[in-house]
Amino acid sequence: MSLKIAIIGCGSIARRHIAGYQQIEDAEFAAMCDLERSKAEAYAREFGGKAYTDAVAMLETEAPDIVDVCTKEMHREKPVIQSVSRGFTTLAEKPLFAAEGQHDVRPSDVEVGRRMVEAAEIGGGELFMAFNYRFGEYARRLKTMIDAGEPGELQYVHAWTRLDCWSHVIDLLRWFCGDIEQIAATMSGPVQSRTRAGSLRFASGAVGTLLGEGSSPAWHDMLRIRWCGSKGVAVLRDIAGGLEYYPHDMKQRRTVEQAHHDPRGEFMDTFGREVAALCDRVRDGTTPALATGLDGLRELEVDAGYVLAAEREEWIDLSVEWE
Ligand SMILES: NC(=O)c1ccc[n+]([C@@H]2O[C@H](COP(=O)([O-])OP(=O)(O)OC[C@H]3O[C@@H](n4cnc5c(N)ncnc54)[C@H](O)[C@@H]3O)[C@@H](O)[C@H]2O)c1
Repeated sequence: MSLKIAIIGCGSIARRHIAGYQQIEDAEFAAMCDLERSKAEAYAREFGGKAYTDAVAMLETEAPDIVDVCTKEMHREKPVIQSVSRGFTTLAEKPLFAAEGQHDVRPSDVEVGRRMVEAAEIGGGELFMAFNYRFGEYARRLKTMIDAGEPGELQYVHAWTRLDCWSHVIDLLRWFCGDIEQIAATMSGPVQSRTRAGSLRFASGAVGTLLGEGSSPAWHDMLRIRWCGSKGVAVLRDIAGGLEYYPHDMKQRRTVEQAHHDPRGEFMDTFGREVAALCDRVRDGTTPALATGLDGLRELEVDAGYVLAAEREEWIDLSVEWE
């Protein structure tokens, strides 16, 4: 039996998701849905499925196995809630919700994100997040090393990213380091591209820093994460750039670096791996590295936590703020 896929939001990122499903033998497009009829029809012609402008009509007629919501972050709440509240397995692009756009997440966005996660709990539709950086080859290698205890216990993490990757890097830090409990932060620059520098305290007791900025050009590395453990230090470079590892007890460094001659091409593959994992999930219940709706909410809390901490000029405790 084939897996019926419905796309909501026929824009540019939907093409990346669609290219991923096209690699999956038993996946077929049931529906292409966009508020703009011409967009839905163009995608249906190009990729298959029936064109819809009304997500509810589409869900009730097609009953898809996977609903992939590729609308922009300010247009995410409605289609996600329409889908999960009817019990459909749903993938949401990132960040979970941001009324004013992804570079200007507000504390009020967290309430909307919470409604989305609650709708999934009540409606029974599983909600997953398109945090596809988790499917980068070196990100996965680092996660495997951490889980196996190779670099030891986390001592600190030091991360920098361009704002384009901001929510992804918050998610990666949670994935590599565990929950973030407290934040102190400061910001500078115009609202839609504020440089934000923060200190983090993790539930494990380890500490970290994360800086996001929109000033440096996108053609060089876009992020760097230095994960320092009790036995070694690992450095993740760029979205798919490379991983260096420096064990404390050896002078020689082990490097797996820039093995891909085309890191941006490898990045495109992360979308395919992610939707393949989602299809596996629907077929046999496995949940490899998929980020959940709750991960999306936690990421949003950290992002909004930066804003609160900077405004108040004090440490904020995320669990108190959004208990
Ligand atoms: N995961 C990644 O690495 C990655 C990379 C780039 C962008 N993104 C995210 O992808 C999202 C989408 O960006 P985009 O550039 O593809 O947007 P886009 O504007 O090109 O496409 C969005 C489409 O959704 C449609 N739409 C809006 N509300 C709808 C509704 N209720 N029902 C049906 N259709 C609706 C719009 O008409 C539009 O055609 C953004 O939130 C962005 O953050 C993720």
